[in-house]
Amino acid sequence: MTLTGRVQTGRDAADLAELAADWMIERLASGGERLSVSLAGGSTPRRLYALLAAEPRRSRVPWERIHWFWGDERVVPPDDERSNERMAREALLQGVPVTPSQIHAVPTGLATPEASAEAYQQDLISFYGRSVLDPARPLFDVVLLGIGPDGHTASLFPGKPAVEETSRWVVASEPGLDPRVARITLTLPALASSRATAFLASGADKHAILARIAAGEDLPARRVRADGDLVWFLDQAAEGDGNR
Ligand code: 6PG
Repeated sequence: MTLTGRVQTGRDAADLAELAADWMIERLASGGERLSVSLAGGSTPRRLYALLAAEPRRSRVPWERIHWFWGDERVVPPDDERSNERMAREALLQGVPVTPSQIHAVPTGLATPEASAEAYQQDLISFYGRSVLDPARPLFDVVLLGIGPDGHTASLFPGKPAVEETSRWVVASEPGLDPRVARITLTLPALASSRATAFLASGADKHAILARIAAGEDLPARRVRADGDLVWFLDQAAEGDGNR
């Protein structure tokens, strides 16, 4: 069995980030007047974000046309060190020409995680213009995702109800791993509404879960589809031998 899309392998984490950054710039360049990106949380994307925000790549990104979303969020204040919004603002958004109206953060401060999920879903529907996703008109131009050691992606954790959601675009999710705070996550149908999706996985500690995915184990990360292109960006440590 193989992974669920093309594999691009970098020598190491830095090389992986450069491959992903160049792929992303190319995908954005082929997009329309208004672009949308769903950002990944966790630690792996930091290098990619820093490369996009710095020359020589910074001037190749069509900043004025991009709207920024998150694939998932921890239900913590945006200045909390566990916040995916905080990570992306620090590594990417605070240093580039983007207006507040282009940043669609998950509103984590509402009364309940369900209320936050509903508000974020309404923001996405308002941006898209319809409440029914059309594969011919993906919601996102680029979706970035990581993979956890248990095979989760975004905040879709193995065995949790959020993985089985087929109609909502956003749900509240129980965490399967630390940080064990309530999560808000895009669902598989929303993640699938993408022109180009990239998984980023770096380091030897990801080799085992990638091998399980490649062997066909039904884990959330393996269920991710894209209306368009799906690429796995790995470094040699994560790929090991045979995760292709
Ligand atoms: C989160 C992330 C999560 C992440 C993976 C990989 O909020 O935790 O969205 O899905 O992408 O856990 O995280 P690392 O990149 O830190 O390994």
